[in-house]
Amino acid sequence: MAVLVKNIKQLVQVNDTPIQWRAGKEMQNLPMIEDAYLLAVGEVIVDYGKMCDFSETVLQNINEPLEIIDATGKMVFPTFCDSHTHIVYAGDRSIEYIDKIKGLSYEEIAQRGGGILNSVQRLRDSSEDELFESAWERLQEMASMGTGAAEIKSGYGLTTQDELKMLRVIRRLKEKSRMTIKANFLGAHAVPKEYIGHQTEYVDLIINEMIPMVAAEELADFVDVFCDRGFFTVEDTERILMQGIKYGLCPKIHANELDYSGGIQVGVKYNARSVDHVEYTGDDEIAVLLGSETMPTILPGAAFFLGMVYAPARKMMEAGLPVALASDYNPGSCPSGNMQFVLSMGCIKYKMLPEEAINATTVNTAYAMCVEDSLGTITKGKIANFFITKPISSIEFLPYAYGSNKVETVYLKGKKI
Ligand code: NIG
Ligand code: FE
Repeated sequence: MAVLVKNIKQLVQVNDTPIQWRAGKEMQNLPMIEDAYLLAVGEVIVDYGKMCDFSETVLQNINEPLEIIDATGKMVFPTFCDSHTHIVYAGDRSIEYIDKIKGLSYEEIAQRGGGILNSVQRLRDSSEDELFESAWERLQEMASMGTGAAEIKSGYGLTTQDELKMLRVIRRLKEKSRMTIKANFLGAHAVPKEYIGHQTEYVDLIINEMIPMVAAEELADFVDVFCDRGFFTVEDTERILMQGIKYGLCPKIHANELDYSGGIQVGVKYNARSVDHVEYTGDDEIAVLLGSETMPTILPGAAFFLGMVYAPARKMMEAGLPVALASDYNPGSCPSGNMQFVLSMGCIKYKMLPEEAINATTVNTAYAMCVEDSLGTITKGKIANFFITKPISSIEFLPYAYGSNKVETVYLKGKKI
């Protein structure tokens, strides 16, 4: 199958050579081609350029059926990369919504047996098939709104068997979906009720049993820890990361959501691919991140839903850092995987320019989930994951019209979904 999209009003995020990420002032740079075409053959982008330079000769060597689309008035973007989700879960936590509305904090809800442990119980009571079906639905919805890659975490099992069960569900999602999916082992999401008061023993279980078994079945790409006040300490985090690295897993951290927890520092020390949440980012954290290879990733949906402080995105970019924006789709702090809304929040609540927020949800999240070589930009040779918008006036319309779905058609691996 080959696809030729013609008369594109603007082809957005075009990079002739792959880049690692965009940081600081460079985040305002969003390369585009006006009045453009895009050609994908099989699963890959093979050509693009200005319509006036288009020549039928590029079609000569294509030996497969060709679909031609006229995108007059419409724009084409690379699909979003959502580098932080927890979409494998059972049921929902709408019951806690009322507690939240009445003013209980995330930690207070967790202390009352709600929060993550509520989802843990439901997950343990669910079969692999049930979990697969509900996660598949969520993934389909994410794709329909323009997401083409997702990192998915475990962390609602918290026993060896239940963590493996979650990761096997993620493996099935990887196999079935046209999206690019990465799996993250988050055994250190919370201390399960059987281990409350014995946190170190639970960390021992993660290190001695869970990580070796996860690695033996090759079920995860990343290892993650919720390093924050009331959850896992810096010391716990170091132990888990060292073991994860030894077993070939790349670290990512839930850091500084609830306090200046040291999570950013420990993440950088172990060369984490990303540190996520980062509401509590001060001068020390910025200094540590500068010059590192760790992507600070903000999760606007969680801060919005929980009524938290907003991470200082502007200050971070002004200091020269890259910033990524992901959804955190999960039942407790962000029951939405809508990256268009994440983009809007980036602009509205974090004062990011549309260009900055688009870089933050495409190329920078691609880096945060280790897919920057194949996704995140329109580049020859990269996977043909792109969406065509409805007719829109400008790129700013995408974050501006925050309640509407601006995505008309999504292509994953060169095929319409
Ligand atoms: O990223 N902060 C920790 N974990 C999730 C929340 C998960 C939950 O509440 O179920 C997050 O926000
Ligand atoms: Fe999370």
